[in-house]
Amino acid sequence: MQRKRRILTLICCTFVAAVAGCSKPVSDSPATAATTLPVSIIPAPRELTRAAGQFAVTTSTPVVFENGSPAEATARYFIDLMQRTRGMALTARNSDASGAISFKLLADEGTPDDEGYSLDASPRGITVSARSPRGLFYGAVSLWQLLTAEAPSAPGATTIDVPALTITDAPRFRWRGLMLDSARHYQSPQFIKQFIDVMALHKLNVLHWHLTDDQAWRLEIKKYPKLTEVGAWRVPAGPAAAADIDPTTGRPRVYGGFYSQDQVRDIVAYAAARHITIVPEIDMPGHASAAIAAYPKLAVLDNPPRQVPADWGVYPALFNVEESTFGFLQDVLSEVLALFPSEYIHVGGDEAVKDQWKASARVQARMRELGVKDEHALQAHFIERMQAFLSNQGRRLIGWDEILEGGLAPNATVMSWRGIDGAVAAAAAGHDTVLSPQPTLYFDRRPFDTPSSPGRVEISTVQDVYAFDPAPAVISEQQRKHILGVQANIWTEHIRTPARVEFMAFPRAAAIAEVGWSHTKDWAGFSERLPAQLERYRVLDVRFAEAPLPRPVDPLRRSSHEMALCTDKIALSLEDDAPISGERAVFKVDIMEPCWLFKGADLAKANSLVAAVGQVPFNFQIGDAVKQIPLHKPATPAGELEVRLDDCKGERIAVLPLAPAVKNYAVTTLPSASIAPREGIHDLCFMFTRKSVDPIWVIDSIELKTDAVAGTE
Ligand code: ACM
Repeated sequence: MQRKRRILTLICCTFVAAVAGCSKPVSDSPATAATTLPVSIIPAPRELTRAAGQFAVTTSTPVVFENGSPAEATARYFIDLMQRTRGMALTARNSDASGAISFKLLADEGTPDDEGYSLDASPRGITVSARSPRGLFYGAVSLWQLLTAEAPSAPGATTIDVPALTITDAPRFRWRGLMLDSARHYQSPQFIKQFIDVMALHKLNVLHWHLTDDQAWRLEIKKYPKLTEVGAWRVPAGPAAAADIDPTTGRPRVYGGFYSQDQVRDIVAYAAARHITIVPEIDMPGHASAAIAAYPKLAVLDNPPRQVPADWGVYPALFNVEESTFGFLQDVLSEVLALFPSEYIHVGGDEAVKDQWKASARVQARMRELGVKDEHALQAHFIERMQAFLSNQGRRLIGWDEILEGGLAPNATVMSWRGIDGAVAAAAAGHDTVLSPQPTLYFDRRPFDTPSSPGRVEISTVQDVYAFDPAPAVISEQQRKHILGVQANIWTEHIRTPARVEFMAFPRAAAIAEVGWSHTKDWAGFSERLPAQLERYRVLDVRFAEAPLPRPVDPLRRSSHEMALCTDKIALSLEDDAPISGERAVFKVDIMEPCWLFKGADLAKANSLVAAVGQVPFNFQIGDAVKQIPLHKPATPAGELEVRLDDCKGERIAVLPLAPAVKNYAVTTLPSASIAPREGIHDLCFMFTRKSVDPIWVIDSIELKTDAVAGTE
C-alpha cells in the first residue's frame, strides 16, 4: 500500500450492491438552526448535537496543545493525517489561541483504558478533550472524519467548514478487534503497520496476530532459532511450485518469512502509539506442524515430517505432553511476554483432533501419570498449565472456544468462533468472552460474489456484519458483563496478497467497528456515512471491496462464478497454483464434489462447446471425509470433462478429453466439442472423470458457440 498525498476527490456513489442508497449528506441528529454541512463519523458517536453556525478550518488555523504533554502525540498525529489526506499544513502551537483546534487532556484523569472523549465545535474554534490519551486520540479521529466528510468545494481549496456541534462519545465494548493470520500467508512488517494505521482510523483497538500454525511459525524465538529457520518456510502446494526450482539451492523455491524480535518491538510500539493492543497467538496443542518440523522432539509421532506442510485444513499433528514440551512452550511464552505487553495472550486451542494422543502409548501413559481421564481432559490440563504460567506472569489466557471442552481453566477468556455457543457457555460459567463467530465475522468469506476474489464461496456482506448482534438475548442481561467485545477474523489460506487482505477487511471493518463501538444500530445511517469512508480509503490508498454494478448474465458464455455449483459442501473461490508469477485464475468449486450447472442454456442454435479448464492441487487436510469424494471412472488415462443434459444424470451430450491440459498447470482451452442443436432451454451439467482426488479439475469458463466448427467429441 503506497501512500499518496492526494486531495480528496469527489465522493463517488458506486458502492451499489453492498450499500443501500448513498447520495445525501448525513445529519446524525435533527438539525435545528444548524448548517447542512455533512457529518460522517464511523463508528457513530454516542451523542452528537448540532448547533448553529460553523467553523472554518484553514491552513492558518493553529493546532494547540501543551508541549511535552501526552496530548502532543495526538495533536501531531492529527496534523500529519490532515497533511496526508487533505494536503493541509496546519501549524502546531503551544499556547491558547482563539480560532484554534485545541487538544486538551483534562486534569481529572481517567483510567488508562478510559476511551471516552468530547468534541466541541463552535464558530469560535474546536476543542477535543478527554481524560486519557486514548480518548483524546479517538477525539482526533472523529475530528479528522469531520474534516473529511465530503470533498473540497474546489480543487486546492484551503478552507474546510466544520459544522458547530457537540459530541460526547465512548465505546460500548472494550474489545474491538481484527484477527490477521500471518501464518498461512506472510505480510511484511511495513504492511502490518499500514494495516494498524487504518484500524486506528476505525477506533479498532485490538489486533489479534495469528503468528503460528501448521503452515508456518512466524515469530523469532531466540532460544529456539529453528522455529523460524525451518518453520517459517514451505514449498507451496502443487506441481507448479514443485517445478519452480531455486537456482541457489537446486530445490523448489520456498515461500515464507518471519518477524524478527526487533521488527515485533517496532510494530508493537507503532500499534501502541495508535492505542492498539497486539494480542499474539501461539497456537497449541494443535496447528503445530511447523513447530514440530523444526523440533521433532515436540511431536507425538516418533518420526514426524521434517518439512513445513502446505495443505490447508486441520492436520492431525499435536504437541506431545512431555514435561520438556511444556518447558519449551513456557520458554516460548516467556519471549512472547517480553515482546508483547498485552494483558491477554492467545494460546489457540482450536481444532486439536485427538487421534494422535489416542493412538500413542506414551501419551496414554502420561495421561495416567497426570491423572487425567480422557483426551479432552488432557487438552484442558494442557491449557490450564499455560494459564497458570501466564497468570504467574500477570497475564491472562485467551483461547478459541474449544478451551471450554474438558473444563475451563479459571480466569480464562473464551473467543467464540463456532457460532456464539462458546460465548453463551463461557458467560454462563462466569468467564469473559469475545464474539468472533463464523460465518458472519469470518472475513475469509467474500463480501459479495466476485469472480476475482479467492475465499469461501459463502458470502458475508457489509450489511451482514453490521447486523451482527454483539449482545445476543441468549446471554442473559446479568451475564452480558462478560462480553468483552467483538472481533472479525481474516484467515489467509486463500488471501495470498496484502491487496486482498485489505479487500477482505474493508469496508467490513467499518461495520464491525460500529458494532463494537456504537450504542445503537442504524444501518440506514451507516450506509449513508459509508461513501465518505470509502473516499477516505481512496485517499489513504487502502484497497477495499466495492461491489461492481450487476452485469447481465451472458446466455452463451459463463465463468465458473456465473454457474451454479451442484453441491455446497466445501465451496471455495479457489485461486490457481499457476503461473508462479503473474495473474492467476480463480475458480468457483466445491472441492468435495467438483460439478457445475450452466443453467438456462439456449441450445437451439448452439452447435459446439468450448471449455477452459484448470487443475488445482488437492491440498486439503479433511481427514476421513476425503473418502466421501466421488470419483467418476475415466475412459482415457488423463480423464475427461463430461457434459450432460438437464441434470447430472441426464444424457451425455459431449465428452472433452483432458489430455491437452495435463501438462499445463494454468488454464487450458480444450479443443471444442460439437453438440447437436436441440429445441428449448436446458441446464447443462459439467463433471470430470478422474482416478484420484488430486488434482482437482475445475471449470474456468464454458462457451456455447453458434457457428459450425467441427471439433472432437
Ligand atoms: C478457527 O477458525 N479454527 C478458530
